[in-house]
Amino acid sequence: MSDETLESVLSEQRIFPVPDSFAGRARISGMEQYREMVRRAEADYEGFWAEQARAELDWETPFSEVLDESRPPFYRWFADGRLNVSYNCLDRHIEAGAGDRPAIRWEGEPGDTRTLTYRELRDEAARLGNALKSYGVAKGDRVVIYMPMVPEAVVAMQACARIGATHSVVFGGFSAEALKDRIEDAEAKVVISADGGIRGGKTIDLKANVDRALGEGCPTVERVVVLQRAENPIDWVAGRDIWLREIMAEESADCPPEPVEAEHPLYILYTSGSTGKPKGVVHSSAGYLLGAIVSMKWVFDIRPEEDVFWCTADVGWVTGHTYIAYGPTAVGATQVMYEGAPTVPQPDRLWAIAERTGTTVFYTAPTAIRALMKQGEEWPAKHDLSALRLLGTVGEPINPEAWMWYYRVIGGERCPIVDTWWQTETVAHMIAPLPGATPLKPGSCTLPLPGIQADVVDEQGDSVPPGSGEGGLLVVRRPWPFMLRTVWGNEQRFIDTYWSYFPDQYLYLSEDQASRDDDGYFWILGRMDDVINVSGHRLGTMEIESALVSHPEVAEAAVVGRPDDVKGTAVYAFVILRAGREGYDLDELRRHLREHVTGEIGSFAKPEEIRFAEGLPKTRSGKIMRRLLRSIACGEEITQDTSTLEDEEVVRQLQGRA
Ligand code: WTA
Repeated sequence: MSDETLESVLSEQRIFPVPDSFAGRARISGMEQYREMVRRAEADYEGFWAEQARAELDWETPFSEVLDESRPPFYRWFADGRLNVSYNCLDRHIEAGAGDRPAIRWEGEPGDTRTLTYRELRDEAARLGNALKSYGVAKGDRVVIYMPMVPEAVVAMQACARIGATHSVVFGGFSAEALKDRIEDAEAKVVISADGGIRGGKTIDLKANVDRALGEGCPTVERVVVLQRAENPIDWVAGRDIWLREIMAEESADCPPEPVEAEHPLYILYTSGSTGKPKGVVHSSAGYLLGAIVSMKWVFDIRPEEDVFWCTADVGWVTGHTYIAYGPTAVGATQVMYEGAPTVPQPDRLWAIAERTGTTVFYTAPTAIRALMKQGEEWPAKHDLSALRLLGTVGEPINPEAWMWYYRVIGGERCPIVDTWWQTETVAHMIAPLPGATPLKPGSCTLPLPGIQADVVDEQGDSVPPGSGEGGLLVVRRPWPFMLRTVWGNEQRFIDTYWSYFPDQYLYLSEDQASRDDDGYFWILGRMDDVINVSGHRLGTMEIESALVSHPEVAEAAVVGRPDDVKGTAVYAFVILRAGREGYDLDELRRHLREHVTGEIGSFAKPEEIRFAEGLPKTRSGKIMRRLLRSIACGEEITQDTSTLEDEEVVRQLQGRA
């Protein structure tokens, strides 16, 4: 991290106190109540979490064991208890008389709408669950879900949870190639997809990607379930493909939820790191759901009878898992779901939906806020947003300017902003304000949730004290119920990635850097690895490099992030061609390489800029000097020591074209 970043975040002085509308009314009201919960969790860590797990989850078999630490870092929570996640998300609300409450109020990009009550959502999940069973999907089998933002995506996830199948949702923006890798790694039996998805006025050929992925491998897949969404012509493989709508018509809605062990893997979700292929992060059932519930209650202060919750994430990312598929349903709330782009047909689409649905709690990413901010205040001004009472952000640090705009223009200076820090691995909020308790500072995710022992440490694992003006590594000192359990099929990678940085002690390494101010507030400074955050999508620079190098003309590539006003970070690639630069139409080749990355990963990963170079700056031991490349990409002066460089000429050359 640069000293500048550290200085600029620590110089933020504005404080926004808890508004009166929250002070006496929130689930956690006041700092004293928060501190009391923190104290309780510290005094009796297991007792604290056991109490939450008993209060918030409906168990088929109650647990007697709380935390099993016998084989660190493979921690187990509530391990002898059994429950069903889908029962906890759907059936229990119906049994409590809320079956007619809308669970999902969906709007498609073309303007079509659909509302599913809790009963309807349960029935659809049950029908699909029965169909999956009839294809031989049993408890623990994997199902890949590759869907657009439609209610059926949630139905599919809940159907898996209902029968104890482990799902792996692959973001619809991923290419056939990326889909294939994920299906093969998970060895999925069934893929659930759609004829197409609609976004930005375009149709995304999801089924064609599935066909391509299956055509090139994926021998474990026996069935492909297809939702008809986009009136998109598709190829049909008889005996393998089946329409989702036929299942809904034919199968019975009687599909008893299958109780599973607390530790049963609910899902796998692939995410990027600095090395190798994306890893399949594995999450549990009970501990996972507990994290989703407590964060919905503590951080979003959700009141199921009154609130209309809306998380704008895609179900393909972790935010869409915890704050669309599982969190809102587990607490019995009504949620809004939107299929398309935020600026179609006009830049006020989100605000129009918020007004029409009476959204009260709204959760989005800083990149979306910055993009909408650029469109001008006149767009939100067209709409009555007075129902909003709480705003949230996630995915990357929010710059104070965007924070202030969100607060003033969208929240009418009335809604607290919960800036929530967490990750695919932590799976639910870890550090975030509690809106009835925590005074806010723009740009800070404030304080850890009760029961979460987050810390900032130096290279030895010793705490860097708050207010020291120093940064450090963000770690979690104690295992928590909703943490990741392993990397799918690769225990060693789990240990190496998250638990091996500090010798002789098990500290969960988040791979983020942070600092704490005098009040103990956390300020996230950025990643310590080569992961970049592009429009809130987490990407490994190595993955993009591999994609580029797989092109026949490319000899070598190095990818770095360059700060971008809207996207947060933009992808900047240095490319060395096999045959040198002569004889190419370089603009044409740039287009070509962008398409190639789109094909290998997805369009969200394609480089914003591609610079053709004669060589890359490397140390004598052959390591690419990324810092230096980053400086060049940003057009900064080179301040790094280049004396270890193998060939200083390379830098001069790269700079010459900067
Ligand atoms: C970053 C998304 C600053 C961070 C839920 C983390 C944040 C990575 C914040 C995880 C925040 C997430 N402030 N940075 N409030 N939230 N990040 O796995 O670098 O897609 O490690 O999970 O996003 O990204 P992931």
